[in-house]
Amino acid sequence: MTKRIAIIGGSGYIGGELIRILLAHESVELISVSSDRYAGKPLSRIHPNLRSQTDMQFVPRSKVDDDCDLIFLSVPHGTSQELVKSYHERNIKLIDMSADFRLKNRELYPEWYGWEHTCPELLELFIYGLPELYRGDLTGATFVAGPGCVATSAILPLWPLIKNDLIEAEHIIVDSKIGSSAAGFEPSLSSHHPERSGAVRPYSPTMHRHTAEIEQALGRGRPVTLSLSVHAIEMVRGIASTAHVFLKDSGVDQKTIWGAYREEYG
Ligand SMILES: NC(=O)c1ccc[n+]([C@@H]2O[C@H](COP(=O)([O-])OP(=O)(O)OC[C@H]3O[C@@H](n4cnc5c(N)ncnc54)[C@H](OP(=O)(O)O)[C@@H]3O)[C@@H](O)[C@H]2O)c1
Repeated sequence: MTKRIAIIGGSGYIGGELIRILLAHESVELISVSSDRYAGKPLSRIHPNLRSQTDMQFVPRSKVDDDCDLIFLSVPHGTSQELVKSYHERNIKLIDMSADFRLKNRELYPEWYGWEHTCPELLELFIYGLPELYRGDLTGATFVAGPGCVATSAILPLWPLIKNDLIEAEHIIVDSKIGSSAAGFEPSLSSHHPERSGAVRPYSPTMHRHTAEIEQALGRGRPVTLSLSVHAIEMVRGIASTAHVFLKDSGVDQKTIWGAYREEYG
């Protein structure tokens, strides 16, 4: 059955990717895409790769058709909380791409994001949207929190090792190199091409926000401690993360490690 889907925040980078993927999905009808800045303009004005794919136009956020099966929120951190409150009251299914509902413990928000959560009672309703780890919980979920980009690049390679108890879970070091699109389409001094070109810059040597969600996702009941450093490099898309881990038993051979990955992702 075709699902009717709307997107709030369709002019940004995540919005653009969502539109591209959903337009190509045979079981989806994209019914409404918002942008306050570009309301009334064709989607392809901002996402030229969609030129031959759709003649839809952006609508203002207030005019998004929410008579639908699912809404994606692809808006900045901190802004989706208010939107989620209203959709929760109307029990509308949604996937929030921001960090606002990724963490279960409300006390982590002031620590990692610098603000108090405005609707902490809703945190427990959200499933972390990483199918490789939470596929069962995601089936039939009403509220999903899309995982962070750096977080995804660290969780997926580490999970088989943690799950099989092969490494010291409280002694993990991750070093990530990240492209410029992660910062969204709003230019800043650090993302502007002349500043970024030719440079490797440690933009978050400690206290990167995704540390909290990586520890939460990998932990699942046991303590996981991570030291994460993120570098901005001259690249647009993509993240390369290197994880340094310490085997619990130095006798573990390569075959066992390959086996853990094959079993999980084969
Ligand atoms: N970029 C990535 O690689 C990446 C990866 C994973 C997760 N995320 C998360 O996904 C979300 C979107 O990221 P992005 O990179 O696409 O950001 P972006 O390029 O800056 O786009 C933000 C979008 O939100 C809309 N917007 C801005 N303020 C708003 C508000 N107060 N209420 C509703 N809509 C608002 C903007 O449209 P108008 O102002 O025109 O309405 C725009 O469409 C963020 O929370 C981000 O952290 C991003």
